[in-house]
Amino acid sequence: MRQIWIGKAGPPNVLQIQEAPDPTPHSGEVRIRVAASGVNFADVMGRMGIYPDAPSIPYVPGYEVAGEIDMVGQGVPDFKEGDKVFAMTRFGGYSDVVCAPFKQVYKRLDWMTATDAAALPVNYLTAYMMLIVMGSLRPGDKALIHGAGGGVGLAALDICNIIGAETFGTASPGKHQFLLQRGLHQAIDYRNRDFEGVVQDLTGGRGVDLILDSVGGKNWPKNYRLLAPSGRLVYFGVSSMASGKQRSWLNALRMLVWLPFYTPIKLMNDNKAVMGVNLGHLWERVDLLQTWLRQIVAWYDEALFRPHVDRTLPFEHVAEAHHYIQDRKNIGKVLLIP
Ligand SMILES: NC(=O)c1ccc[n+]([C@@H]2O[C@H](COP(=O)([O-])OP(=O)(O)OC[C@H]3O[C@@H](n4cnc5c(N)ncnc54)[C@H](OP(=O)(O)O)[C@@H]3O)[C@@H](O)[C@H]2O)c1
Repeated sequence: MRQIWIGKAGPPNVLQIQEAPDPTPHSGEVRIRVAASGVNFADVMGRMGIYPDAPSIPYVPGYEVAGEIDMVGQGVPDFKEGDKVFAMTRFGGYSDVVCAPFKQVYKRLDWMTATDAAALPVNYLTAYMMLIVMGSLRPGDKALIHGAGGGVGLAALDICNIIGAETFGTASPGKHQFLLQRGLHQAIDYRNRDFEGVVQDLTGGRGVDLILDSVGGKNWPKNYRLLAPSGRLVYFGVSSMASGKQRSWLNALRMLVWLPFYTPIKLMNDNKAVMGVNLGHLWERVDLLQTWLRQIVAWYDEALFRPHVDRTLPFEHVAEAHHYIQDRKNIGKVLLIP
C-alpha cells in the first residue's frame, strides 16, 4: 500500500509518500481499498506540529475515507467483501488501503459517490453536532457561521438551509458569490469590515441566536457580545493560530490576549450559552456519531444537499492540497485520490 507520512513538523513539503505491505484486518475490522481520502484543517495543524490530538510524529494523518471493502476480519457483522463504504479513521486515512473498526464504517447509498462520501464525516458531523445537537437550531433562528466557505462552514450552511435558519457568514470576498448562490442570506467580508458592527447593523442591534466559531483570537469577545438573549455560541477551532505554514509560538501567545472569561453568574445574567465541540474526542461514543450520520445520510438520500467537493488531487500532490487549504483557496472539501 501507499501512505502519506508526516515525517517531521514543517511546511507542506514534509509530507512524503511511502510504500508498506498491505495490512490485515484485526478482529472487528474491515479492510477498505480507498477511492478518496478527506483532507481536513486538523491534518494541516498536525503537519505543523500544533495539533494536540495528533499522535507523535512520524504518523499518517487522515480522518476519513471512502472506498470498497476487500477483506473482512473476524466477528464483523453486516459487512462483506465488495461493499461500497465510507469510514472514519483515527488517523491513517491518507492511505490507499485502510483497516477500520466496523463501527466506524458506514455503507454508501447506491447513488452516493466515493467523493461525496469522503466529504461527509468530519464536516457534516461537526456541523450537525454544533447546530442540531448542542445548538438546538430552530427554523427562523439567526445563525452566524465563521469561515462559511470552508469545509465545516459550508456543511453548516447546508444544514441551516435544511432547517430553515437565517444565515450570516463571514468569508473572504472571493467566496461570497458562491455562498450566496448556495443559500447564504448575508455574506460578510470580515477581512475588510468589522463583522461585529455589520451583524449588529443587519439585525438592528438584536444579535444572533447561534454562532459557530473556528477562527478564535479576536473573534472571541466579539462573538459573545453578538449573542441575543438565549443565544448559543459554539467554539470548535482556532484557525488563526495556524496563520503561517510553520509552527509559531508567538501566534499561540497572541491568542492568550483574547482569551475570554465567563463566570457562571455572568452567563446566568446574560442568558447566554457558551459551548465547545471536538469531534475527535468522541471515539468512545461512536454510537452518537452513527445516530447523527444516519440523519445526514437521510438528508443526502432526500437530495436536500450534496457536499461541495472543490478539488480532488492525487496523492503525489498532497503538498499542493495543504497549500491550497492554508492559502484559504478552498470552498468546501479537498480530497486526495490514491
Ligand atoms: N472541533 C472539531 O470537531 C472540528 C472538526 C472539524 C474542523 N474543525 C476546525 O474547524 C476549522 C475549519 O475547518 P475546515 O476543515 O472547515 O477548514 P477549511 O476548509 O480550511 O476552512 C476554514 C476557513 O476558515 C477561514 N479562516 C479564517 N481565518 C483563518 C485562518 N487564520 N487560517 C485559515 N483559515 C481561516 C478561511 O476562509 P476565508 O478565506 O473565507 O477566511 C478558511 O477557508 C479548523 O480550525 C479546524 O481545525 C474542528
